[in-house]
Amino acid sequence: MATPPALSSRIPGFYELCSRERMRIAAQFSELSLEEEQSLHHYGALNPELTDTFIENAIGTFSLPLGVATNFIINKVEFLIPMAVEESSVLAAASHGAKLARAGGGFVTSSSEPIMTGQIQLKFLAGNPPSDEELTALKPYLLAYANRGQDRLLARHGGAKDLSWYFIAEISSLVLQLQINTGDAMGANIVNTMCEKVSVRLKELFPSCELGLRILTNLTTSRIARASCRVPAAAFNNTNFSGDEVIDRIVDAWKFAWYDVYRATTHNKGVMNGIDPVLIATGNDWRAVEAGAHAYSCRDGHYRPMTLWSKGSDGALYGSLEIPLAVGTVGGVTKLHPSAQAALKLLGRPNAQQLAEIICAVGLAQNLSALRALASEGIQQGHMALHQKNIALLATHREQTNVEPVRQLRHQGFLH
Ligand code: MEV
Repeated sequence: MATPPALSSRIPGFYELCSRERMRIAAQFSELSLEEEQSLHHYGALNPELTDTFIENAIGTFSLPLGVATNFIINKVEFLIPMAVEESSVLAAASHGAKLARAGGGFVTSSSEPIMTGQIQLKFLAGNPPSDEELTALKPYLLAYANRGQDRLLARHGGAKDLSWYFIAEISSLVLQLQINTGDAMGANIVNTMCEKVSVRLKELFPSCELGLRILTNLTTSRIARASCRVPAAAFNNTNFSGDEVIDRIVDAWKFAWYDVYRATTHNKGVMNGIDPVLIATGNDWRAVEAGAHAYSCRDGHYRPMTLWSKGSDGALYGSLEIPLAVGTVGGVTKLHPSAQAALKLLGRPNAQQLAEIICAVGLAQNLSALRALASEGIQQGHMALHQKNIALLATHREQTNVEPVRQLRHQGFLH
């Protein structure tokens, strides 16, 4: 390891510099070459001004490959799915999963209304918390209070819709949960703003309490997306096993995940392999969705696979996925990032619910493809062959050819 330079990371006013100056300091700090500096200080579809509006201390952007997954039919509509991801074989696998589901008519999806939940913690260290009766009487007032000044949201049928509460004795805390329809926004700002506002009023109403946290929960159990598919046995008949055998093996692989947390974790990583790249491509908060999806997988007290797979009485494979999916199609990065805007256009400009459903279908396709490969020829021989081929081709390409690796892969039938 190179010896770190004797420079301090304490740089007062760093955030006030322009990105070029910040880059220079960072480059000096770590003794970056000009080439290394240039690979950080570039803007792709963004520019320094936009980058500065997204984050603090920006010095450039980080590029990821962006591709489109093919073969998707969702609720009888054809889709090309934009996915931003660094892992090879993810797009090929998503496309393959969608091709299998396509043989049964594609994916069927549904979703709940875009209801986010905000938490307000009131600590009653001295004095008693209000009774259920008191809170029930106050509820209409508190909902109306939360909605004051939210005319645009209310005009779109959004706003605070419900309020519930519970008491956690161990931390003497009354937790109020505000249910807010955030429309086509992911809604973090709306929820946090409403929670802070209502909490101030609650403090006035209950002076003996101490205000605790006021923040949304990422476990958005009221904002759920569902996708399902049916794959006829004949769709699997091109492997070493009969279609019927492949289906039995996929269901067995799923049961392994159901009963084993180590397998469930990897199974679910495979589901998120499909979900995260679409979240990234559309400018959505993938950390929020990850957190909610994994917590939801524990809802019966055990960490379970996110998907369900079974064999129907008609011999076909039936799969479904149900997860919390808080995504937006307006506001924030989604609105300002030119690539996110274009990705949404690729998807036909869905609203937030439709986008959540599309993403859910991609997660199911991704899992189907991984299970099919694992349950038959194995992941290394299957999709990972693409990765190995890719690396080999890249080396060859660098050394001698002028044919791009991707074109070679397509010639060899690796890309769908
Ligand atoms: C690799 O990124 C994802 C898989 O491990 C998922 C799985 O095992 O189900 C192939």
